[in-house]
Amino acid sequence: MVRLIISGINGKMGKVLETMCENTDSVEIIGGIDINLGVPHKFPTVSDPFELQDKADAIIDFSHHSFAPVLCRYALETKTPVVFSTTGHSDDELNMIRDTSKTVPVFKSANMSLGVNLLTELVKKAAAVLNDFDVEIIEKHHNQKIDAPSGTALMIAEAVKSVRDGEYVFDRTKEKKKREKNEIGIHSVRGGTIVGEHEVIFAGNNEIISISHTAQSREIFAAGAIRAAKFIAGRQNGMYSMEDLIKEI
Ligand SMILES: NC(=O)c1ccc[n+]([C@@H]2O[C@H](COP(=O)([O-])OP(=O)(O)OC[C@H]3O[C@@H](n4cnc5c(N)ncnc54)[C@H](O)[C@@H]3O)[C@@H](O)[C@H]2O)c1
Repeated sequence: MVRLIISGINGKMGKVLETMCENTDSVEIIGGIDINLGVPHKFPTVSDPFELQDKADAIIDFSHHSFAPVLCRYALETKTPVVFSTTGHSDDELNMIRDTSKTVPVFKSANMSLGVNLLTELVKKAAAVLNDFDVEIIEKHHNQKIDAPSGTALMIAEAVKSVRDGEYVFDRTKEKKKREKNEIGIHSVRGGTIVGEHEVIFAGNNEIISISHTAQSREIFAAGAIRAAKFIAGRQNGMYSMEDLIKEI
């Protein structure tokens, strides 16, 4: 049994994760964290993790990037592994997360879906083979999403950049000029209740290849986060990602 603390328990993802944990025999939620305490849960829910009495095997975070310093402090003091699923971290927050991983296991992925992580691997391969094709990434999300572009779009862009030269372009309205060869265009669409769509277009001379992923439910992220928590519980310190998890499947 893997004992979990869920950070952001009263948010959209926290709620999906809570239901999934209730229906999964191998995991148990022993505490929740949220600045909005909402209705009582079956387990203690607090706004400050240090108020929790029980120690967990792992924390899953789906709250807000600005909560990372508190979670890092809690993880270090209680030696609890953390799955950072939250997106939009600043450079300072990312450095803090990296430092924390020197002492406790940390799992970080801007997208917890196995499908998207496989898409990222396919994109890397396509970007290397189609090295003179123009790459454009289009992401679509619901109208409540705060950060743009999505952490996943940046993760895909980084995968392209890992195999060829690339300059991110988010906005072509400022300058009147032709597209440069090394540009990686990243475009954000916001509307309605779209769970998450990512499409990568490789546009060449007279041919276009597109690779896309559509999330039809938030459950795919919750399932991935539970897998990630099981993966890092009891492991050595270090920074782990979906790539490590996929390698082990
Ligand atoms: N990695 C992934 O696969 C994945 C998938 C979906 C969402 N996300 C990310 O997860 C995060 C949460 O997404 P959501 O759609 O559930 O958002 P949400 O706004 O519905 O929920 C966030 C919850 O966190 C709480 N919260 C905010 N600031 C807090 C703080 N400082 N301390 C404690 N609790 C705090 C809020 O009260 C809320 O209940 C976002 O960053 C989102 O981009 C990641």
